[in-house]
Amino acid sequence: MHLGIILCLVISEVSSAVLDQRPSGKSSWTGKLLVVPMDGSHWTGVKAVAEEMGRRGHTVIVVIPEISMRLGPGKHYITKTFPVNYELDLLNEILTEHVRVVTSPGQSLLKSMTSTAAIFIKIFNMMVSTSESLFKNQELIGFLREQNFDAVLTDPALPMGAILAYNLSVPAVYMLRGMPCGIDAAATACPDPPSYIPRFHTQNSDRMTFSQRVLNFFVSILEPLICKFVYWPYEEVTFNFLQRDVSLTEILKTGAIWLMRYDFNLEFPKPLMPNMQLIGGINCEIGNPLTKVSITFILTT
Ligand SMILES: *[C@@H]1O[C@H](CO)[C@@H](O)[C@H](O)[C@H]1NC(C)=O
Repeated sequence: MHLGIILCLVISEVSSAVLDQRPSGKSSWTGKLLVVPMDGSHWTGVKAVAEEMGRRGHTVIVVIPEISMRLGPGKHYITKTFPVNYELDLLNEILTEHVRVVTSPGQSLLKSMTSTAAIFIKIFNMMVSTSESLFKNQELIGFLREQNFDAVLTDPALPMGAILAYNLSVPAVYMLRGMPCGIDAAATACPDPPSYIPRFHTQNSDRMTFSQRVLNFFVSILEPLICKFVYWPYEEVTFNFLQRDVSLTEILKTGAIWLMRYDFNLEFPKPLMPNMQLIGGINCEIGNPLTKVSITFILTT
């Protein structure tokens, strides 16, 4: 039920945004959606939307690398894969290492931080190389260009889909939990006052003491620098593909809708722009009716 309601919301948001641009838009009109997903847990919600849009008669094309953890075909959408220059072994190796780091007990903070960072860099390099493989795949890019999509659905945390949408000049719908280092606020010009919006890793809440605010303020000043560092490997890939210098912030600025998977059990309230919609429940399991046993239990207690 819950998922159903959220899907309806998502779909009406997406389709109204697309329909707005067509004066003769009819409700029976079905459009073409390109989905460029991110691997791992991010795929769960995106796959649900891709399936539902396909089920409702839209043409949905999902573009994924040949090698991935969880990405794969579905019932109601078309899958287009592209080759990458790494093997499944590498992916498995990184994952095994990640599990080992997470589960090995008694590590010092420094040790666990450095090994986590090392794995993060490996994964990130792999993702950058995935983007490169897609952008260099002229045949697939040409095919996608010919499709005249009405929208692109993607998670911008790894900006492959965002860059592609920018190049195809198709409105982008971002679905995300958040972006590192406040680049989302910069791209949407969303108010983001450090006086009560806690920054990553500071462990601050939305109510801070003076010293916490000072720390928060300094982290907020450093954020653009951290972002530059984190997304630096994408700069060359973006330049090679677009054939000119466009910053990631500029690309993200063109996003039409931001669907935020916020859950206020994990997040503090903060300002949002009108094109940001909260869809936090999208990863929730669909509710089933209670069993007889549990109803009896509830009634008798
Ligand atoms: C898209 O990419 C092509 C080739 O890589 C480039 O020539 C073109 O200028 C790009 N278009 C935009 C809008 O960035």
